[in-house]
Amino acid sequence: KNIALVAGGYSGEYGISMQSAVTIEKHIDKERYDVYKIEITRAAWQHITDKGEVVQVDRNDFSLTLNGRKVTFDAVFIGIHGTPGEDGRLQGYFDMLGIPYTSCGSVTSALTFNKSYCNKVVAALGVVNISPSVHLFRNQPYAIADILRQVELPCFVKPNEGGSSVGMSRVTTVDDLEPALEKAFREDSQVLVEQFVPGREFSCGLFKTQGIFTVLPITEIISTRDFFDYEAKYTPGLAQEVTPAEAAESLQQRIRQTACSLYNALNCRGITRIDFIWKEETDELFFLEINTMPGQSDGSIVPKQVRAAGMTLKDFYGSLLEACFE
Ligand code: DAL
Ligand code: MG
Repeated sequence: KNIALVAGGYSGEYGISMQSAVTIEKHIDKERYDVYKIEITRAAWQHITDKGEVVQVDRNDFSLTLNGRKVTFDAVFIGIHGTPGEDGRLQGYFDMLGIPYTSCGSVTSALTFNKSYCNKVVAALGVVNISPSVHLFRNQPYAIADILRQVELPCFVKPNEGGSSVGMSRVTTVDDLEPALEKAFREDSQVLVEQFVPGREFSCGLFKTQGIFTVLPITEIISTRDFFDYEAKYTPGLAQEVTPAEAAESLQQRIRQTACSLYNALNCRGITRIDFIWKEETDELFFLEINTMPGQSDGSIVPKQVRAAGMTLKDFYGSLLEACFE
């Protein structure tokens, strides 16, 4: 089968995507699949051959012409974080072409990529707590006093559609709020201001094949920084990621069950990683976010969870591809 592995993207997570693609390409079973890496950027959609030749994708049918022969794809392994691979755009395009892909569909991708709207839907499901937040738009006026009436400090200011903590700040004083908003608005036209939840952070990776869940061992993230920011995410040693987490089995069971309920209710497909905060004081579980295109770089959490589960990355990526054809 011919598989297109798409990587790159238009966002600040371009570099992470290229690293994810290295891991995925290295571990995909080459005896079962012919893999063609395609880099998608604003400038071009292209494949580089073994000989270093640059071949442009025909966007009419997502095909390549190599040595005068047209290559079409049986499935696409989407490895783009951020837009256009995590927010439903490519998913909609591949749906129109009838090419299966490894991720959630376009509606689920678009919803989960929008942190504010996703919070509202998850809150309505009633299976997990959501921290108070305010959703701001660049073209609509806002007042700091209004924000502070709805959200207590400390709070997080995040681009509403983004990942890897790009453009994100932790705000502890009123004076720091405006600069944090400006920073986030440089990345996105929408910003989410979310009240900080004191507690322990857990991340749960899960996927479904033939209707059956595989829930990977849970990771606890212990950051030595203010929060699990971009540096901490990708610099070895700045955050401790404990997999499997050392937490009470009853709590881990609760996290797994909540993750499965959310996965089903949001109609997810493929691998997703759902992040939670457990507030020990009140024994409440809070939803942080769902990543429908979790990082696959060497330093990323999901590959570690896969290995901790005693699974090989070859079998894992193979399962994700096979699920495309179900
Ligand atoms: N957004 C990054 C890639 C992650 O969730 O792993
Ligand atoms: Mg994320």
